[in-house]
Amino acid sequence: MVEPIKMTTRQEREGILHEAGFNPFLIKAEDVIIDLLTDSGTGAMSASQWGGLMEGDESYAGSKSFFHFKETVQDLTGFKHIIPTHQGRAAERILFGVVGKAGKFIPNNAHFDTTRANIEHVGAVAQDLPIPIAKEPSALDPFKGNIDTKRLRAFIKDKGPENIPLVMITVTNNTGGGQPVSLANIRETSEICKENRIPFFIDACRFAENSYFIKMREKGQGDRSVKEIAQEMFRLADGATMSGKKDGHVNMGGFLALNNDLWSEQARNLLILTEGFPTYGGLSGRDLEAYAIGLKEVLDEEYLKYRIRSVQYTGEKLTAAGIPLVLPTGGHAIYIDALNFFPQIPREQFPGQVLCCELYLAGGIRGVEIGTVMFGKSKPAVEYQGLELVRLALPRRVYTQSHMDYVCEVLIEVFKNRKTLKGLKMVYEAPTLRHFTAQFIQT
Ligand code: F0G
Repeated sequence: MVEPIKMTTRQEREGILHEAGFNPFLIKAEDVIIDLLTDSGTGAMSASQWGGLMEGDESYAGSKSFFHFKETVQDLTGFKHIIPTHQGRAAERILFGVVGKAGKFIPNNAHFDTTRANIEHVGAVAQDLPIPIAKEPSALDPFKGNIDTKRLRAFIKDKGPENIPLVMITVTNNTGGGQPVSLANIRETSEICKENRIPFFIDACRFAENSYFIKMREKGQGDRSVKEIAQEMFRLADGATMSGKKDGHVNMGGFLALNNDLWSEQARNLLILTEGFPTYGGLSGRDLEAYAIGLKEVLDEEYLKYRIRSVQYTGEKLTAAGIPLVLPTGGHAIYIDALNFFPQIPREQFPGQVLCCELYLAGGIRGVEIGTVMFGKSKPAVEYQGLELVRLALPRRVYTQSHMDYVCEVLIEVFKNRKTLKGLKMVYEAPTLRHFTAQFIQT
């Protein structure tokens, strides 16, 4: 399939960005030249997946496509109950609807924004426990996505295991720079959870990329297949949530998978309420078919090699030009360190958002801020202490090296002009997940 790219002039983009309140989420996709807003649901399906769509069984209950999907997920994860959902956050909402409430705590290496929002929505507390080096953008470490197991032990002791319904690990760690988690770290977390009788869950959106990094970087893992590594990773856990829009290679889809019979019964009841019958969970039969095929294709090691290399290649070019990035580059995206890119723009004036806007103006490129806009709040005030990043996420099987060369050229140009740029002021914010709809003016 070929998709045309509409070219725009800087002058046209100035009008478009102004209209969008300096928030790239509010720009029409056709007004974007290279869209790196997200790698979620933006990938291209394979010929085999398109073929699968034609074979989708649309029976309301017990469709053949559901069983294909269920067997595929079970082969991969080993979990007893497989509950399809329309995307990752639906699995999160259902899971935390079952296990979360006021007085409960959910630790994670780093919660993604929807995970955090779904935990907070039921009154529980989402606690990030990244390893200290994760906070240093340029520090080289092969597994910067790891959870801090020392702090996890202390956290469990402090809050009491009875107040921690589950511990989560997000692979790869999206908010922390797309950084992988080691198998050793997953094993240790699994043991800590067992000792304390706390269920252990994996946020598995990018499980294949994480498994590939384990194969490449972890001692003793190089001779195993990525699939074997993924299978072991899941078998160390008691359940998983997944957004199929990433490593499921589909445009829509997700699942909640778990071993606990009682939780799964409660989850299915919630599913029926808002998503659909348990054998389709908000998805068409054809979606389930394509998702099942995608979950197998994503383990193709030639594909993974090309994908991870594309990110690395872009990172190498930008680093050579002096642009501060989160290093080493992760699985699905380049993360630019906006505080170091714009030392003259303080956090309160959203340096990451400024960079997103400038990338759009200079080259029609769309990225996303992962910093104060995404995680801060003014009412009630939540001061964000983490990194101010701009993420340029690569959709799967969409862009080529020449597209990424263009992205590098634009970014290098913006970097040359960085001292002339000024901050932004937020003039509208929604009560939750404010980054999607926030409005800004120039200072
Ligand atoms: N967990 C992680 C680690 C994610 O990256 C996402 C989505 C979700 C859960 C939620 O899944 O979108 O299917 O509901 N991340 C996208 C992104 C939106 O751009 O990184 P969803």
